[in-house]
Amino acid sequence: MRQDVALHHASRLVNHGPTVLVTTENDGRRNIMAAAWSMPVEFTPPRIAVVVDKKTFTSELLQASGRFALCLPVPALADLTYRVGSESGRDLQGSDKFVRHGIGTFAGPVLGLPWVEGCCAWLELRHIPEAHTEQAYDTVFGEVVSAQADDRVFANGRWSFRADNAAWHTLHHLGAGAFAVPSRVVQGTLLRP
Ligand SMILES: Cc1cc2nc3c(=O)[nH]c(=O)nc-3n(C[C@H](O)[C@H](O)[C@H](O)COP(=O)(O)O)c2cc1C
Repeated sequence: MRQDVALHHASRLVNHGPTVLVTTENDGRRNIMAAAWSMPVEFTPPRIAVVVDKKTFTSELLQASGRFALCLPVPALADLTYRVGSESGRDLQGSDKFVRHGIGTFAGPVLGLPWVEGCCAWLELRHIPEAHTEQAYDTVFGEVVSAQADDRVFANGRWSFRADNAAWHTLHHLGAGAFAVPSRVVQGTLLRP
């Protein structure tokens, strides 16, 4: 079930490199795209960097609204993830990708951004404008203002990937719509002092 994630644990949601769905909304228009490239850059305040190509409709709405959301899709959403990452919402006059693909959403608790139903984790972020970086690269930074996760797979600030919760595992893009899922966890140990 969906539970709040403490903001100081939010970076752990993307620490292992999951593919995310980036959702945006501005002035009555909303959009969704896939992004394989995201990473935490600070624990507190929790900040995340995402590569969002400047040519995308997502970039346009993100820059105009100053906010965006990330949703972490599960294996059942692989087709959806590939599809929303292979077309632009800019081309859908009078409609959007949510309608076209029958994507159910609910409102994020702080910014009201569209969170995608059936994912395993969700974050809302306020855009941190970095003019120089954004001009030179497609990387955008955001501060996490709310985060939730499905407690069948993320609880007490930790992912728990097991065979019995495989339906809630994250997707990791290999290219051309192929994704890997975390099939096995290897626990490292420390030397005793
Ligand atoms: C699995 C997957 C991962 C992707 N990762 C990224 C990414 O990290 N950054 C990016 O800018 N585009 C990425 N893309 C491409 C965008 O999702 C794509 O350009 C999308 O059509 C943009 O949609 P929009 O114009 O409606 O915003 C990815 C596509 C797929 C299918």
